[in-house]
Amino acid sequence: MTFSWHSHLLPSIAGAIGQTPMVDLSRLVAGTGLSGRILAKLEYLNPGFSKKDRIALQMIEDAEGQGLLKPGQTVVELTSGNTGTGLAIVCGVKGYRFVAVMSRGNSPERARMMRALGAEVVLVDQMPGAKVGEVSGDDLARVDEVAQELVRERGAFRADQFQLEGNFRAHYLNTGPEILEQAGCAIDGFCDFAGTGGSFAGCAAALKERDPRTRCYLVEPEGAAVLAGQAATQPNHPIQGGGYAIPHLTFVRPELVDGCLQVSGNAAKAMARKLARTEGVFAGFSAGANVAAAAALLEGDLKGGTIAVLLSDSGLKYLSTDLWD
Ligand SMILES: Cc1ncc(COP(=O)(O)O)c(C=O)c1O
Repeated sequence: MTFSWHSHLLPSIAGAIGQTPMVDLSRLVAGTGLSGRILAKLEYLNPGFSKKDRIALQMIEDAEGQGLLKPGQTVVELTSGNTGTGLAIVCGVKGYRFVAVMSRGNSPERARMMRALGAEVVLVDQMPGAKVGEVSGDDLARVDEVAQELVRERGAFRADQFQLEGNFRAHYLNTGPEILEQAGCAIDGFCDFAGTGGSFAGCAAALKERDPRTRCYLVEPEGAAVLAGQAATQPNHPIQGGGYAIPHLTFVRPELVDGCLQVSGNAAKAMARKLARTEGVFAGFSAGANVAAAAALLEGDLKGGTIAVLLSDSGLKYLSTDLWD
């Protein structure tokens, strides 16, 4: 891929999606005394400050191409905020009305941003007793029910990120190849905190296609590691955007998975803070989880190797949480 949006006049903001920078986290790795490299793709530099802009664009353009989305039709999707922000941007510039359905457990700045971008935001209460900031699979199931009702009521197109191939394709066609091109060296490992599993699967497929020796690991919260075959003893955790304890994810084919890693909410937070202090990289909880998992790989299975990770969204999305002082 040779095209870079930095040097071109863009017809719309959608053209600024993707082609994110990748940074060698050498300061952070040196500080921990580990040997090897962690290469971090700064997905928070997308226009909506997350990697999910990529899938929003791909799902909408696939649906347009397949005639599934008609001019003037409303688009609906459930979101932890990031896919919704991407869809608000893409639908906004393409002229579709967009309704985002989100749990009240996700941080409020996400809803405010989607509204600012012209989306209608429908907030869904969490399960009784659930804690704000900790969205479980049961909370997400409620959000899904409301999204399904809205699709029926409004004759809308559901940009279903758990099912539509565009989620996988965005990362298979773009994010994965960008990692390979930017790294300029062999990638020994890739690890990714899974929500839908689209980023993991798309990148893993592209990386393994180039070099079948690249080992790919799913990252889950401690206590909700069902993809690793463990029981969900602690479904509530602070790593927003994933870790929903859903045992089967459409895009995560077994041949793409070399292993599963668990990261606690506290370890994810600690690493996100360390990223900010040591690398000037201001990213969210799941970015912290991915880098903590990569550090664990350098300590264990992939000592001395090169690990690629995605820093999925911006630290700005969590100013209202306890991630920052
Ligand atoms: C911040 C963040 N990290 C990680 C993920 C998980 O990504 P994926 O759905 O591609 O597995 C999401 C998904 O919404 C997210 O918002």
